[in-house]
Amino acid sequence: MCGIVGYVGSNLAYPILIDGLKKLEYRGYDSAGVALHTGESLEVYKKEGKVSALEESVYGKNIQATVGIGHTRWATHGEPSDRNAHPHYSRSGNLAMIHNGIIENYAQLKSELVQKGYTFKSDTDSEVLLNFIEDIKINNDCSLEEAVRVALKRVVGAYVILLLDKDLPDTIIAARKGSPLVIGIGDRAHYLGSDASPMLAYTKEVVYINDYELAIVRPDELILKNLGNERITPFVQKLDMELAAIEKGGFDHFMLKEIFEQPQTIFDSLRGRLDAVQQTITLSGVEKIADKLLAADRIIIVACGTSWHAGLLAEYVIEELCRINVEVEYASEFRYRNPIITDKDVIIAVSQSGETADTLVAIENAKKQGATIFGIVNVVGSSIARLSDAGAYTHAGPEIGVASTKAFTAQLAVLYLVALKVARIKGTIEDTLYDRLSADLAKVPEYVQQILDKQDMIIRAVAAKYSDARDFLYLGRGYNFPIALEGALKLKEISYIHAEGYPAAEMKHGPIALVDENLPVVFVATKDSYHEKIVSNIQEIKARKGKVIAVVSEGDSVVTDLADDVMTVPQIHEIIAPLLSVIPLQLLSYYIGVNRGLDVDKPRNLAKSVTVE
Ligand code: M6R
Repeated sequence: MCGIVGYVGSNLAYPILIDGLKKLEYRGYDSAGVALHTGESLEVYKKEGKVSALEESVYGKNIQATVGIGHTRWATHGEPSDRNAHPHYSRSGNLAMIHNGIIENYAQLKSELVQKGYTFKSDTDSEVLLNFIEDIKINNDCSLEEAVRVALKRVVGAYVILLLDKDLPDTIIAARKGSPLVIGIGDRAHYLGSDASPMLAYTKEVVYINDYELAIVRPDELILKNLGNERITPFVQKLDMELAAIEKGGFDHFMLKEIFEQPQTIFDSLRGRLDAVQQTITLSGVEKIADKLLAADRIIIVACGTSWHAGLLAEYVIEELCRINVEVEYASEFRYRNPIITDKDVIIAVSQSGETADTLVAIENAKKQGATIFGIVNVVGSSIARLSDAGAYTHAGPEIGVASTKAFTAQLAVLYLVALKVARIKGTIEDTLYDRLSADLAKVPEYVQQILDKQDMIIRAVAAKYSDARDFLYLGRGYNFPIALEGALKLKEISYIHAEGYPAAEMKHGPIALVDENLPVVFVATKDSYHEKIVSNIQEIKARKGKVIAVVSEGDSVVTDLADDVMTVPQIHEIIAPLLSVIPLQLLSYYIGVNRGLDVDKPRNLAKSVTVE
């Protein structure tokens, strides 16, 4: 993970870097640091903790530099500490470097350097790589650019690196493999970042750097080369994003803002695709690979975390509507277990960031084996989006809160569209069902708004009642089972309360042993074909004195009477209902996290974009 920023231009670099680091802090917040080229020397400032801690430690210093790099860290090698914070100096002090990624063969490189007499100030793989580069530079008496090229040919792993050289006062050298790097083109200035957010205030023109590319960046020059030293013409793209999208806009937290944005973001995911009047769905990505989808033996959905939950729900929906076998895989398992893939397989990769390392490598492997890749991704221009043969962006806008909310509902919206579109092409859906589902899907933004308007205060009260609980159980059946998993994940991420999601009927095969008067059990119990069954499951919990909190459909007096607390959502077709039932669970987690005094936007140990395996 980690966030990286860089600036070369004629303005003061330090405030630009700090501002950029704050925008990227969602990627990691174990420590932060900057390296600045003053024209004569390289100055490094770094501090354990968040960017604000770095700012405090630097307060009052007169930092005059127009070139610099900055880093916010999610620790991999070495504990979070000042010592392990980036940037690192090389042994001579002539180079400074930041790194996002993991150098897998760092131990080998380190032992070679140790034999040559090198010692290290940190426990990081990054400091090893930096000294490896410097060693090549000194021994070959070559430029930094050449040394980086030579070094990277021996490196195994993932990286974005940015380097400053004391002898190159107006230059940043950057390279990438497997971790994201965007370069913004300003007026006689360039901005570098893990994503485009740090440069949004200054430019909308960006270049997404590809794997195995090396950039030499000066105020008025961007040179791009491959590792064979051949020049590449930078492909400049226009950003379709506004600064307001990455600011809190009056909300206490990004997470709350993002929950409340969902009527709009779901609408945006459907806009131009679902025509509720004509009952048509336009999805050029699906049309592009329609022949593959029609001939597919199966669809494999690969994803991690919340995106995996969206994939799990899609399995239920696609199998029901399209009658195609669907397998849902944790990308981290799929990539390592030598799965049998053929050119008849279609892989759907679901990812908010489009940079999750496990998902990325899983689809790279599948693609090599002939599979067709369909990406459902939020971040435009991200690695997964670019690797996909076809796809559909989710259009949720930048999601800053580490706990995914609006990206999840946008993924679901797009997955519903994909399922309906494929079912229509395959002729596996009755017209009446197709019409009902598309009509209900179109109503979702309005219904989500109703939930936010009517339930927010109620959910605050429920959260207040259960904020001290030690454990939670989340239960659901059928289409609501993935929502139970997602509800539990949300709660544990931001409140640090142990929470388990389970299929409601499976509960009696083990988890029921946990039930006593102290255990809140959240039932996702909207009106569906399993309703009577889930009512029985609620009875089973009540009989053991468990506390029942239920998400119910409006007008459901049966569950309302049984439950200790209810959160109500409008009645909608059961296939679409998860898009509504997840909303109260997001709010419940948010308010419990806040009540416990936690930083819900930056939960401990997590990072937004998991670019390491
Ligand atoms: O960017 P991705 O969707 O690929 O990320 C996958 C997971 O890391 C992510 O969903 C994670 O589980 C979130 N913290 C969930 O809130």
